[in-house]
Amino acid sequence: LQRRQLEETLAPFRLHSQQLKAVQAQMRESMVRGLRGESSSIRMLPTYVCAMPDGTERGDFLALDLGGTNFRVLWVKVGSRSEEGIKIINRVFSLPESVTQGTGQQLFDHIVDCIVDFQKENNLSGQTLPLSFTFSFPCKQLGLDQGILLNWTKGFKASDCEGQDVVSLLRAAIRRRQGVELNVVAIVNDTVGTMMSCGYEDPHCEVGLIVGTGTNACYMEELGNVCAVPGDRGRMCINMEWGAFGDDGLALQEFYTPFDLSVDQASINPGKQRCRAREGGARRAGREDSDRRGWARGTSGCGWVGRGADGEGRAEAVANLGCPSYSLSARARYEKLISGMYLGEIVRQVLLHLTHLRVLFGGQEFPSLQTKDIIKTKFLSEIESDLERWQVRAILEKLDLQADCEDALLVREVCQAVSRRAAQLCGAGVAAVVEKIRENRGLDRLSVTVGVDGTLYKLHPHFSEQVKDAVRELAPQCCVRFLLSEDGSGKGAALVSAVACRLAGAAG
Ligand code: BG6
Ligand code: GLC
Repeated sequence: LQRRQLEETLAPFRLHSQQLKAVQAQMRESMVRGLRGESSSIRMLPTYVCAMPDGTERGDFLALDLGGTNFRVLWVKVGSRSEEGIKIINRVFSLPESVTQGTGQQLFDHIVDCIVDFQKENNLSGQTLPLSFTFSFPCKQLGLDQGILLNWTKGFKASDCEGQDVVSLLRAAIRRRQGVELNVVAIVNDTVGTMMSCGYEDPHCEVGLIVGTGTNACYMEELGNVCAVPGDRGRMCINMEWGAFGDDGLALQEFYTPFDLSVDQASINPGKQRCRAREGGARRAGREDSDRRGWARGTSGCGWVGRGADGEGRAEAVANLGCPSYSLSARARYEKLISGMYLGEIVRQVLLHLTHLRVLFGGQEFPSLQTKDIIKTKFLSEIESDLERWQVRAILEKLDLQADCEDALLVREVCQAVSRRAAQLCGAGVAAVVEKIRENRGLDRLSVTVGVDGTLYKLHPHFSEQVKDAVRELAPQCCVRFLLSEDGSGKGAALVSAVACRLAGAAG
């Protein structure tokens, strides 16, 4: 019975080829709609990056890298590719929650303080090096040095920033800190920085992929297909902001399990459900549903039946779980099925459910399992690596979960199901992108390199292989090389400035 209950619970996480093909097709359709400026959950934002490094770029640059696990300030020295190459000196600065979730002014003042400290440490004070800003959030760019923050994602929530030009906010903070001069020349998404930094090593690199705290991709699109920018010759890098794919309720519904709904609900506006009496969330709803009918039917009853806007274009939806309805702010849905910030929480929700069914831990409800975010992505990576059962038990013990050998195996199976689904969905997205590039160019076969960064992709023992397997299956006419970005996207952001300086020099 226990095996059957486990299988029923994990069944919705096991995706077959047809489902992945459908995701690929929906992604493709959303990309085209986004490029045309029609309503689409994928924004397809122009970046004004039109050329890759050609190795002749030179100079010293400052870079900021904000939005991933670490906030960093970098000094990037770009020399000749064959001799000095690129040298980087960088420092990671702490970014307390009071800053990421305080006021915009506090956030940008903190950033400038960190730059000033960094300059002092490296004897750079007084030099006005070109500064590139890797800012890993959705921005509507109007040029290389102008980016309006559309909305915060991941854990950031600083007030008075959404709808503002981030470069102006940074420049205003520089002015407030008198006696400091900085020359901000470019704002760059982390996907773009990653593509550029891998493009320095491999000229075939025309896609950037991040699978870390969040997930996103960029790629080189034909300018003629980008309605928001005039001109039809050449290419421009498009920041897809694919994390929001499905946000309009038009895709991915069938994959959203009650566990995902519950994670989504807890991630944004906690406690702001319309029906407070029904607090306890989708998990309880899902559990009752599963007790009655099993997961397969339980999840198929899960769909988006209502939608509204909260003033910033945020989609609100009501999930019909076959039980009471819950009002959910459902945003960045693809991201919430894939990226590191959410996978541990999905696993935790599944473990809670299995405990309730007495499949796990003999039904003992450990208080630590009630703690949000206790399961980090690192934990998934560790549990899924080639460990003996006792080692898995030791990891669980660190989380105050007393597991026997059987429990250890079950927990591993849950982690595998959740991370495999994430990798396959991510692969379907990459397949949609490379196929689009191939068709754009009218090629029978395309060889392309994807530059990749992000803790989940880099540290998980199987994730990268599973992404590659899915891409091989879904885009058989593309030969895709995945190249890991070595020094983070700050280096690529500096290269964006370096390329801009080279082109300006050539033009002048
Ligand atoms: C880093 C980049 O290398 O990768 C960041 O420099 C980026 O800007 C990050 O956001 C993504 O990874 P994570 O796992 O830190 O979110
Ligand atoms: C989030 C951000 C996006 C970024 C991604 C990866 O999805 O909105 O801009 O690229 O995380 O860090």
